Amino acid sequence: MLVLGIETSCDETGIALYDTEKGLIGHTLHSQVDLHEAYGGVVPELASRDHIRLIVPLLENLLSKTKTPKDRIDAIAYTQGPGLSGALLVGSAMAEALAFSLEIPTIPIHHLEGHLLAPLMEKNPPAFPFLALLVSGGHTQIIHVKKVGVYEIIGDTLDDAAGEAFDKTAQLLGLGYPGGLALSLLAEKGHHHFDLPRPLLHSGDLNFSFSGLKTAVLNLVRAQTLLTDHIKADIACSFQLAITEVLTKKCLMALDQTHLTSLVVSGGVGANKQLRQSLQENLSQKNYSVFFPRLEFCTDNGAMIAFAGAMRLDNSLKHDLSFKVKPRWQLA
Ligand SMILES: Nc1ncnc2c1ncn2[C@@H]1O[C@H](COP(=O)(O)OP(=O)(O)OP(=O)(O)O)[C@@H](O)[C@H]1O
Ligand SMILES: [Mg+2]
Repeated sequence: MLVLGIETSCDETGIALYDTEKGLIGHTLHSQVDLHEAYGGVVPELASRDHIRLIVPLLENLLSKTKTPKDRIDAIAYTQGPGLSGALLVGSAMAEALAFSLEIPTIPIHHLEGHLLAPLMEKNPPAFPFLALLVSGGHTQIIHVKKVGVYEIIGDTLDDAAGEAFDKTAQLLGLGYPGGLALSLLAEKGHHHFDLPRPLLHSGDLNFSFSGLKTAVLNLVRAQTLLTDHIKADIACSFQLAITEVLTKKCLMALDQTHLTSLVVSGGVGANKQLRQSLQENLSQKNYSVFFPRLEFCTDNGAMIAFAGAMRLDNSLKHDLSFKVKPRWQLA
């Protein structure tokens, strides 16, 4: 079965084709980062308009690049939510209209399900059940993944998400938006010189809180008489270490508590080199395994939506052809 995937929940237009037999056939992505950078965050109306401008050319480009006639598509998976309503409407309208004209089913996908299943597109994926650490721009969750469609959130952030903390800290250091990657590159040049808080490290539960960490960085920045590049690198390094330590410790706790042995990591912060190293080192010491998506599939993309659609087809979780978007939508 060939599944077309469409992702338009926020500021990336992603289109992909996933074959349940052959795997990923191709994918294409347009990021709107340049469009929103001047505003320091995503402007919803600009995002919707840009999706409208590019969704058809991107689809046509992918179909011609992969030599796929439209009538070979068996089903269309699209992000139904959560996300920006206008942006979601572009992808869902496109998916439903195309599916109607081709007389094929649509499969509405929860954006976070796309993220958390993305590591399973790689070679030698873990078997169900497993634990997932979802660390994206809007979420920081530890999820017990029982099977496709059955998710129990066992840890969550009480305030800022990990990606949000990276972005806000990057902004304090003048690194632009979104600053997660820039901050991690700067951190490589610095030393762990500042002792920043490890929020909720000893709380005994699996929840996170990152807004205090961001405030600690703000106070640290204000306390500097001169914010040199050297000091900025040390702050970035200390921040990254604090956040990495908390995420690693909570994942270990969650694996111990659930008696699961595999962790998959997904979402944009899952691309972070230090986090990957820390999880790999600490989990292997306890004979746990950790799985990551390739870097390009950590952040939003169409491939993870096509793949989630294919998994749902495989598991016979078909959709009833209704057409609405869900800007807010609980994963569990
Ligand atoms: N190497 C990196 N290190 C740390 N953070 C990173 C890195 N690369 C990307 N990020 C962060 O990942 C986030 C974007 O990830 P993603 O696209 O998964 O989030 P989102 O789609 O905006 O949020 P959500 O999926 O929760 O709605 C941004 O906050 C970005 O700064
Ligand atoms: Mg996302």
